[in-house]
Amino acid sequence: MALGRRSITDPAIDAYAEARTTPPAAHLQRVHDATWRDHAESAGMLSGVIEGRLLETLVWIAQPRLVVELGTYTGYGTLALAAALPPDGHVVTLEVDAERHAMAVGHFEASPLGERIDARLGDALELLDGMGGPFDLVFLDADKPRYTDYYEAVVEKLAPRGLMVVDNTLLGGRVIDPPEGDERAAAVARFNVHVASDPRTVQVLLPGRDGITLIRRA
Ligand SMILES: C[S@@+](CC[C@H](N)C(=O)[O-])C[C@H]1O[C@@H](n2cnc3c(N)ncnc32)[C@H](O)[C@@H]1O
Repeated sequence: MALGRRSITDPAIDAYAEARTTPPAAHLQRVHDATWRDHAESAGMLSGVIEGRLLETLVWIAQPRLVVELGTYTGYGTLALAAALPPDGHVVTLEVDAERHAMAVGHFEASPLGERIDARLGDALELLDGMGGPFDLVFLDADKPRYTDYYEAVVEKLAPRGLMVVDNTLLGGRVIDPPEGDERAAAVARFNVHVASDPRTVQVLLPGRDGITLIRRA
């Protein structure tokens, strides 16, 4: 099984960890395979087995009624988030690219979890503006340059025990000293400082995969 390429971890460690992680359900494996078969050029964006099981486990613990995902891509993360929802829970996923949105909707409809997912097409910031909270769990995985804007749009709508999960917060390690002209790395580095100095929240940046930050209210 191919691993997503977005990882700062030694590939052998990733392979070891993936081999000792519960394999994905058949519908998730199909999304994984179709994404790599038809969109190999962008398939590194797919969250994959380890992160998928992490998202599912966080949902299993938190039992959120409303999950919001920023950045659907082909729907792997969405389906992982939907897997352990409580009976009244659902996932709203936001995607700006019409082709990716359509592809993900196809995957949701072909899965046993389609009815738990509300896939919306549009710019995540604009869509968030029209959404009421409280958000019980948010997976932030859209365009990196606007991570701080997304954080600010979400933080006041977080439920008292809400959780924000933010992907790619190490961006291949480039956040430590962003290379000249690397706007994505510079933006994520600014985001990391912004969050770490925000007295409204408590966070932990996990140095696995490509960096995953878990954020909750203080
Ligand atoms: C890293 S991928 C998401 C991966 C997905 N969450 C998963 O777990 O497999 C990022 C996605 O964010 C989308 N995106 C970029 N800018 C966006 C925006 N302004 N609003 C919504 N989605 C956006 C991209 O088109 C892309 O599909």
